[in-house]
Amino acid sequence: MRKKIIAANWKMNMTVAETVSFLENFRSHVDEVNGVEIVIAPPFTAIAKLSEMLGGSQKISLGAQNMHFEMSGAFTGEISPAMLRELFVRFVILGHSERRQLFGETDAIVNKKVALALASGLKPIVCVGETLEERDAGKVNEVLETQLRGSLAGVTAEQMQTTVVAYEPVWAIGTGRTASPEQAQEAHAQVRKVLAGLVGETAAKVRIQYGGSVKPNNAASLLGQPDIDGALVGGASLEPHGFAEIIKAAVAK
Ligand code: 13P
Repeated sequence: MRKKIIAANWKMNMTVAETVSFLENFRSHVDEVNGVEIVIAPPFTAIAKLSEMLGGSQKISLGAQNMHFEMSGAFTGEISPAMLRELFVRFVILGHSERRQLFGETDAIVNKKVALALASGLKPIVCVGETLEERDAGKVNEVLETQLRGSLAGVTAEQMQTTVVAYEPVWAIGTGRTASPEQAQEAHAQVRKVLAGLVGETAAKVRIQYGGSVKPNNAASLLGQPDIDGALVGGASLEPHGFAEIIKAAVAK
């Protein structure tokens, strides 16, 4: 049984002050929630404060939105896994489509980050997903296979058990245009098939999140699909009540 995992990707939103008021409010909404793993990935500047407020909470884990592929050195503006671990960060989002499209991240770069994250004791959330052009050209399966094989090269079956994959169709991110539950399920089944080719039976244990305009009103139907094990939520995770509603939709599944 794969425990559902709902993660907030705040992207470049939320100051420290906004983070504090979010958490105070959010906690009251999820007090009674059990059986779902919750992750919040704030911007780097809010990680220390959130870490202090969470105090090692088992209910809510801290995530980062990116990291560098070296442990230290002359890499101006970058953050290393050691710096994240010091602040009790447990998850790190890697290869988000915005990083791939706007900041030139390739599968090879993502792969180096995944390897270092795993070696450092961080759990990677590895993002894959096709553009609208690729979907229209009938290339969804091919794109997912290339991204997964490239980003996860060298990852062992054991390491794969602590790795999360997020399927995020680029055309559904921030557009309000969600993949239908059937479209998402089809892509998730393909992701699991490729994972089976990489790590055999362990593929059945890997959690695959859906991301792309997940909202309180569509979360239940997406999370009800057999291969959808959680959600990676952007815009709707900035509002405590709405994000909690998405989490509650996962409890029932
Ligand atoms: P939205 O939920 O805002 O579409 O963002 C999805 C996403 O990119 C999460 O990583």
